Amino acid sequence: MPTQKLLGLSLSNISIILKAFKIQQLLTNMRILLLGSGGRENALAWKIAQSTHCEKLFIAPGNPGTAKYGTNLPISLLDFEAIKKACINEKIDLVVVGPEEPLVKGITDYLISTPALKNLDVIGPGKNGAQLEGSKAFAKAFMMRHNIPTAAYKEFTLGNYAEGVQYLQQHPLPIVLKADGLAAGKGVVICENHLEAIAEFELMIQRAKFGEAGKKVVVEQFLKGIEMSVFVLTDGKHYVILPEAKDYKRVGEGDTGPNTGGMGAISPVPFADDQLMKKIEEKVIKPTVDGLQKEGLEYRGFIFLGLMISGDEPYMIEYNCRMGDPETEVVIPRLKNDLVELLKAAANQQLDKVNVDTDPRTAVTIVAVSGGYPGDYKKGIEIKGLSDINPEDSILFHMGTAEQAGKIVTSGGRVFCITSYGRSVFDAAEISKEELGKVSFTGMEYRSDIGYEFD
Ligand code: AMP
Ligand code: GLY
Repeated sequence: MPTQKLLGLSLSNISIILKAFKIQQLLTNMRILLLGSGGRENALAWKIAQSTHCEKLFIAPGNPGTAKYGTNLPISLLDFEAIKKACINEKIDLVVVGPEEPLVKGITDYLISTPALKNLDVIGPGKNGAQLEGSKAFAKAFMMRHNIPTAAYKEFTLGNYAEGVQYLQQHPLPIVLKADGLAAGKGVVICENHLEAIAEFELMIQRAKFGEAGKKVVVEQFLKGIEMSVFVLTDGKHYVILPEAKDYKRVGEGDTGPNTGGMGAISPVPFADDQLMKKIEEKVIKPTVDGLQKEGLEYRGFIFLGLMISGDEPYMIEYNCRMGDPETEVVIPRLKNDLVELLKAAANQQLDKVNVDTDPRTAVTIVAVSGGYPGDYKKGIEIKGLSDINPEDSILFHMGTAEQAGKIVTSGGRVFCITSYGRSVFDAAEISKEELGKVSFTGMEYRSDIGYEFD
């Protein structure tokens, strides 16, 4: 019989109330460190700064765009020791890791195993979970183990090189070759004939074209269809699905020319109806999250599913252990939830208690790049007109910019992007283009056809 009662409440009830109060208190005064310096981090900073739970936001290293929403810290992403010190000195409660490289190199494990940071939460998987992106061979084997639809493949190294050449010779065209490790987005080569495929295979394995990690090669069946991206936030047990997006990777209009990091993105994807999204959830998302759990892969963070939709069926092309860039710049503006609440629920394994609330408007982002990108381009060129962008329907996100003597200058290939809301893809893209017309720098280029298939 419960004898210890206070004001009619049992001790266990009081403890639940106190716990909820503590979570709420922790939530109200959070000090957050966001790692990264691109458009994705500018969009995340924009959103985190709107949270009532964010007491102070730091971004390391950040860019002039993130500086509007928090304090930039001049720390390199791979300087784990300096990041740890910043967490201790600035009394950080939550770290949000933007890009993949620190995740694949183990920033999450490093921070959470630091005794002085025992209360710290990190959004982004540990090194084991980050293999979903860090190793194409790991990701393919994971998909096979969990019956996730994907292209047929085989993996090769120096050990079975001769067998690989034979395999390529009889492989239907085109052939997709993927370097196993991170290769700054360049590790996938699609070969139109067998000679080209064998030459590329030799470059990767014998000559380490993509470094040591690229000496393992995944040879994959070519999938035909339309690509789209789905973003999931998971706590390792539960998940929520964020708005989907489609990015435009080729540099030229009409999807021509070399691949880039992404020249623009749209959300929602007009063909991604409820039926397709349900299929993606059942065939890809659920088995992925269940698979992580079954295999004991600790994962509290974003999973980016790169999908090919063939007919009506989704096939996994790749996992990323982070949000996409520029997809984040359309996904996050459509998220109506308080992002810090979602992130904290992910950290506390309470994502089953939240619902995602999405803005029904369409968001389109168009990226302005430096002339020559994705090849060589100049840096340090002054950008004019950024302050003229109309904030009513559009948001400016800095990507590769820097501040020099009080001026904003270019410092990367993808320089900035403008996201606009509209009633349709066409509408939102028109608004972004109008705003882009107010900004200029020598050599500035952008694709004026983002979302063209949906006009
Ligand atoms: P990834 O780095 O794995 O995203 O690959 C880069 C791009 O290569 C993808 O966005 C696709 O456009 C293309 N790709 C990768 N794998 C395949 C495949 N099996 N079939 C067709 N295209 C592919
Ligand atoms: N936009 C593609 C990526 O972030 O990987």
